[in-house]
Amino acid sequence: MVVIALFAVVWTLLSPTKIMASTGTRDLHALRPDLVTLPSQTEQFEQLSDENWSQTVWQRPACVASPACAADVSLLVKTLVKAEVPFAIRSGGHSPNRGDATIDGSGVMISMHRLNQVTYNPHSQLANIGPGALWGAVYTALDQHNVTVVGGRVMPVGVGGLTLGGGLSYLSYLHGLACDNIVSYEVVLADGQIVEASEISHPDLFWALKGGSNNFGVLTRFTSQTFPAPQVWGGLLVFGADQMAALMQALYEYQTAPQDPEANLIINLLPTNGLLLLTLVYLKPVEKPAAFAPFYSLTPVSEQTGVMSLHQLMELFPPATLPRWTWYDTSFRPNASLYAEISALLAPSAPEVSAVAGAASGSLIMAVQPISASAVLAGRARRGGNALGLEAVEQTWWSVSAGWASADDDGVVDGAVHALRDKIDALAARSGTRLDYLFMNDANARQEVIASYGPENVRRLWEVARRYDPHGVFQRLVPGGQKLPLKC
Ligand SMILES: Cc1cc2nc3c(=O)[nH]c(=O)nc-3n(C[C@H](O)[C@H](O)[C@H](O)COP(=O)(O)OP(=O)(O)OC[C@H]3O[C@@H](n4cnc5c(N)ncnc54)[C@H](O)[C@@H]3O)c2cc1C
Ligand SMILES: *[C@@H]1O[C@H](CO)[C@@H](O)[C@H](O)[C@H]1NC(C)=O
Ligand SMILES: *[C@@H]1O[C@H](CO)[C@@H](O)[C@H](O)[C@H]1NC(C)=O
Ligand SMILES: *[C@@H]1O[C@H](CO)[C@@H](O)[C@H](O)[C@H]1NC(C)=O
Repeated sequence: MVVIALFAVVWTLLSPTKIMASTGTRDLHALRPDLVTLPSQTEQFEQLSDENWSQTVWQRPACVASPACAADVSLLVKTLVKAEVPFAIRSGGHSPNRGDATIDGSGVMISMHRLNQVTYNPHSQLANIGPGALWGAVYTALDQHNVTVVGGRVMPVGVGGLTLGGGLSYLSYLHGLACDNIVSYEVVLADGQIVEASEISHPDLFWALKGGSNNFGVLTRFTSQTFPAPQVWGGLLVFGADQMAALMQALYEYQTAPQDPEANLIINLLPTNGLLLLTLVYLKPVEKPAAFAPFYSLTPVSEQTGVMSLHQLMELFPPATLPRWTWYDTSFRPNASLYAEISALLAPSAPEVSAVAGAASGSLIMAVQPISASAVLAGRARRGGNALGLEAVEQTWWSVSAGWASADDDGVVDGAVHALRDKIDALAARSGTRLDYLFMNDANARQEVIASYGPENVRRLWEVARRYDPHGVFQRLVPGGQKLPLKC
């Protein structure tokens, strides 16, 4: 049945006049063949389906639809829903989870890459950003106006997925997450209606989209608050793996000293490569600010720091280019003995480290992301808050990820990364510092992210879903991504 329905849709998209006759639906008249790429158009199709990042997600959808405006998206959604055809929604394609943003031959992938406009209104100081834009292009467009937004830290990542999952930025200590700074979402609902969700228009939907991912509609525009683009001091410090325990102790001291919200950082531990990377970002052009003092007593093997624009600083780090990726995450409050125990789990001889090291080009990466209570409070203070259920405490969002080269190693690497995440999570639970919250943007499809927002938020999310999508289109026909938990 699905196959027949699917055939009908592809045929629909390709022959607007015929489908008009067969369904009597006026709306379909506007669907043009140039919105759709079929597998038979081999080169174009592969370019679209094999975007963009991790080969582990590549699939062969029945076709790829490339809408150019919200009205195109509306027509697509109506057509797919009417025919009961499953679909996937992809913006920047940077989820490494198979099926989050891609789909097999039973369905259609909607690629948002043509909805990538970035405009700025100097009077309102708001930016309109298409979900298919990549962060590098967003910052480049906003540079002309000397403004920036709370957005991604790595340039080729997409706006759509990052923002709908929360969105962690170097500006988050000051302003909250990316989603907290969206003042209005343009969204295509399950019935094809195009609505604005903001504090005054559909405020319940507005709240739900701040963490609700693809459970409520297809996002076609984000309107974001902007901020003056800062000159910053910071850069990259590289340490040898023998500094692991010392670096983690310095992190603990940084997190438990009085917070300076200008002082942001991320640590990437690469035990398989014997390297530890510390990225410091101070949001003022002040060299060696006191907030990073715990790190200054360590001796880096290399250091590249200076005063530059935040955009320049983020561009210093080209993203890793390994072809296959997986990740899992957990979160906890800072605790010195926990950090020491985790460091011990990452010794070269540890089973998970050596399993990943044994894969061709296998690289294990722990992204250690400190989050301040101020980031959580800034989010709460904005326009009704978000759906994430964050606790206003100093915390660490810990991502265990790996990149590797060959499909032959998929099972071994994913198994090791999963096992290591579970060990870290268990240590955190035992130290009494574990937090329920799972950061969607670093989570595996096997983790239940939305349940981690807490029962009250889950209940509210379901209420909003029933109101705006009474037939459960985004639960049934969009199988990929983090779904609302089945029961609450
Ligand atoms: C190198 C790298 C660096 C990263 N850095 C950061 C960072 O600094 N901060 C951070 O918060 N995260 C970061 N991430 C994580 C990133 O936010 C997630 O991978 C996110 O899913 C990427 O968004 P995307 O649009 O590229 O993904 P996609 O794979 O296209 O989408 C991810 C999910 O969002 C849904 N979705 C996407 N667009 C829409 C839409 N328009 N409407 C409805 N649903 C939609 C998809 O259906 C899918 O389930 C990083 C990831 C990588 C690989
Ligand atoms: C995929 O990645 C390439 C290289 O980084 C980039 O040029 C292209 O725009 C990306 N495409 C999409 C759909 O994100
Ligand atoms: C941006 O800043 C530069 C340097 O300070 C200045 O010359 C330029 O006029 C500014 N542009 C806008 C649009 O404000
Ligand atoms: C940190 O963990 C240790 C045990 O590893 C425990 O004794 C201590 O109380 C913890 N601190 C906090 C703040 O939970």
